[in-house]
Amino acid sequence: MKVWGRMMSKAFSRRGRIAALAATLITATAGVMGLAAAQAAGDARTPEHHHWHFAGPFGTFDRAALQRGYQIYREVCSSCHGMQYLHFRNLGEPGGPYYDEEHPNANDNPVVRAIAADTTVAGEPDDFGDPTTRPATPADAFPNPFATEGMARLANGGALPPDLSVIVSARHHGADYIRSLLIGYEEPPEDVTIRPGLYYNPYFPGGAIAMAPPLPEERVTYADDTEATTEQMANDVVEFLVWAADPHQEARKRMGFMVLIYLTLLALLFWISYKVVWRNVAH
Ligand code: HEC
Repeated sequence: MKVWGRMMSKAFSRRGRIAALAATLITATAGVMGLAAAQAAGDARTPEHHHWHFAGPFGTFDRAALQRGYQIYREVCSSCHGMQYLHFRNLGEPGGPYYDEEHPNANDNPVVRAIAADTTVAGEPDDFGDPTTRPATPADAFPNPFATEGMARLANGGALPPDLSVIVSARHHGADYIRSLLIGYEEPPEDVTIRPGLYYNPYFPGGAIAMAPPLPEERVTYADDTEATTEQMANDVVEFLVWAADPHQEARKRMGFMVLIYLTLLALLFWISYKVVWRNVAH
């Protein structure tokens, strides 16, 4: 009886300790979550959720949207933002906006070559060691419009326009955030003063951003005659940026799918051969 009692009290105290630990953990988690929620509420508005047709395991990019997105980047964003990890040839690779089956090697794709040649990049120093420029080739990366960080800040009121090659992965809520940021400029509330050179945007942490609203209605004339509303331009450039952050994702998704089919067939084959081999053997 005594032994039983001791065992019970031990079990209870262990359970008690576990319960106490669980309670502490729950309280701590709730505390952290509360803090995060408070921060989110006080800091920046949660981006609006948009239904992206390229999301999910079978999602694909829309070639026309990618081309429009590139047009927006080229005609608007590239005057302030570089994309150092994206190369002109990527535009003509399978899955890219200008892929052409007749020119599987993107370096030979005339559209890609023309797009590259339209951009000027730094060349080799000349015989006197002075800097030169030359038209880009498909092998070049998208250049930064500013030679140094200091010049970029000087031109942008002290702020630095970030490189956009992987910006979608570098920001929480990626595509939704950038879309909301681009279309979400507003008049500041009464009690908020924004100093000159900054613009009120509730989606930007802190609310005051040094980037002027880049996409006013009809900012570009689309090559395919799509109506250039602010939202349309934002959707297109975000689709382009999502593709650019991972230009080979479509090929990878397709490969994953093939591997699944292959493994399923292989499993079936193994099962059939197992049945055949052991057919007349008692086991
Ligand atoms: C006139 C220059 C200029 C143009 C044009 C411009 N931006 Fe910016 N952008 C900036 C600057 C400056 C910042 C940094 C803002 C800050 O830190 O306050 C910035 C910041 C950003 C950010 C980062 C916001 C963050 O969370 O840090 C994104 C994304 C962005 N720009 C996207 C774009 C896109 C897409 C375009 C084209 C549609 C574009 N920008 C056009 C100057 C520009």
